[in-house]
Amino acid sequence: MSYVIGVDLGTSAVKLLLVNQVGEVVLEVSKEYPLLHGKAGYSEQYPDDWVRQTLAGLKEIVATFSGDPEEIEGISFSGQMHGLVLLDETHKPLRPAILWNDTRTTAECKAIYEKLGVENVHKATKNPVLEGFTLTKLLWVQTHEPELYARTSVFMLPKDYVRLKLTGEVHTDFSDAAGTLLLDIEKKQWNDEMCKSFQIKPSMCPPLVEAQAEVGTLTTEIAAETGLSASLRVFAGGADNACGAIGAGVLEEGKTLVSIGTSGVVLSYEASGSKDFAGKVHYFNHGAPGVFYTMGVTLAAGHSLSWFRQTFSEGKPFKELLEGIETIPPGSDGLLFTPYLTGERTPHVDAAIRASFIGIDARHTEGHFVRAVLEGITFSLRESLEVFRSQGKEITEVVSIGGAVKNKQWLQMQADIFNVDIVKLAGDQGPGMGAAMLAAVGSGWFESLRDCAASFLKQEAIYHPNPDHVHVYNQLFAFYQDVYPATAKLSQKLANFR
Ligand code: XUL
Repeated sequence: MSYVIGVDLGTSAVKLLLVNQVGEVVLEVSKEYPLLHGKAGYSEQYPDDWVRQTLAGLKEIVATFSGDPEEIEGISFSGQMHGLVLLDETHKPLRPAILWNDTRTTAECKAIYEKLGVENVHKATKNPVLEGFTLTKLLWVQTHEPELYARTSVFMLPKDYVRLKLTGEVHTDFSDAAGTLLLDIEKKQWNDEMCKSFQIKPSMCPPLVEAQAEVGTLTTEIAAETGLSASLRVFAGGADNACGAIGAGVLEEGKTLVSIGTSGVVLSYEASGSKDFAGKVHYFNHGAPGVFYTMGVTLAAGHSLSWFRQTFSEGKPFKELLEGIETIPPGSDGLLFTPYLTGERTPHVDAAIRASFIGIDARHTEGHFVRAVLEGITFSLRESLEVFRSQGKEITEVVSIGGAVKNKQWLQMQADIFNVDIVKLAGDQGPGMGAAMLAAVGSGWFESLRDCAASFLKQEAIYHPNPDHVHVYNQLFAFYQDVYPATAKLSQKLANFR
């Protein structure tokens, strides 16, 4: 039997999967690393923590694996997007990485729009300018740490730094490069105009490859340290959302996924890179060659539920917290929640907006609040679906992945609020499986990612919309959409008191 390894470099931990030729996860290892919040809004990590823990994970896989390490043929990567890693000439990090969820760069976002004009930026990048994106972080370092910026030889994205330390090779792939705001996503080359406008030397941008591209083998030192074969083939890998799409089989027109983790994502396959979404959604290169995806992001999806649990329900286990929510009618007896705990991205790019419960009644119980939180998160994701629909996309089936799939009621709620069939996959492994699939195709097990998906991915259940619930939720969704404009100014005023 042959095997591949999928490495998913997340924000709180790296997860490694050893997958066999029939798509079974034979071993799974997870290693955590700390997040640094030195100041309000800051979110950083030490790149060498990622490397140390990835190596620890690889060593554990080799130690636990009952077969011969020579049978492990390929490895590939999925990575948290947008994080800025700055390297000196010897490829040593010059500072901690500034991550996707670091929000210090509001002034830089404004400066980008002011310098080039909103429309021109959307035309050049096909994306909104958000604090999360890499260019804003590069500009922050230019302004606040100019000496360090001057010593930078190349910038990298998180998974690319880990791969560099494993192979000695410098690359990034199109799906991750798209999240920098410096890629011409359609031409698949670094965008000269953007780079010139912001004094980013071409030599600072890493060479671009496809996610499936073979980029080398392990260095002899890493092979010796981990016990893996020195001939293990290394494939570039992709952004976590691109790999999530691969791992959920979103590989052809009409396929869409909803992922509910800490944040929530609605992601839809897009064959063409020439559309114009006017910066309303994210528009990135897929991990499959030559195609794209559009994506809307709810910043506090699962986070809203864990916040509620922690703050009001004494940290009850999720299972207990969600028990009995089916006894509360759709619409939670008139209680409505908007999940803007940490601001929002789609469709409202607004760092100041905050969450609301509207319509609290003396009759409402803890269960009503829990159901309202689930409904509010799901309404927020529907807003992204509606942006896609307004562009003529027909969405009739959605694959649901992430923590939310553990609860049947929430899956049914997704079917009812989105008015689509919701598919749950067997053994949902998310981006790590997408990375393993890139290695499987790269290793020649399959002709294409689609062939690999057909063999590796199995549907476990389908949830159909209940017409009565759809009717109720359509009415409530209109009210939900009224809450943002009604509370945006108020949230801004309250920001002075936070
Ligand atoms: C996408 C984004 C997040 C990170 C999380 O734009 O910022 O999904 O990729 O890892």
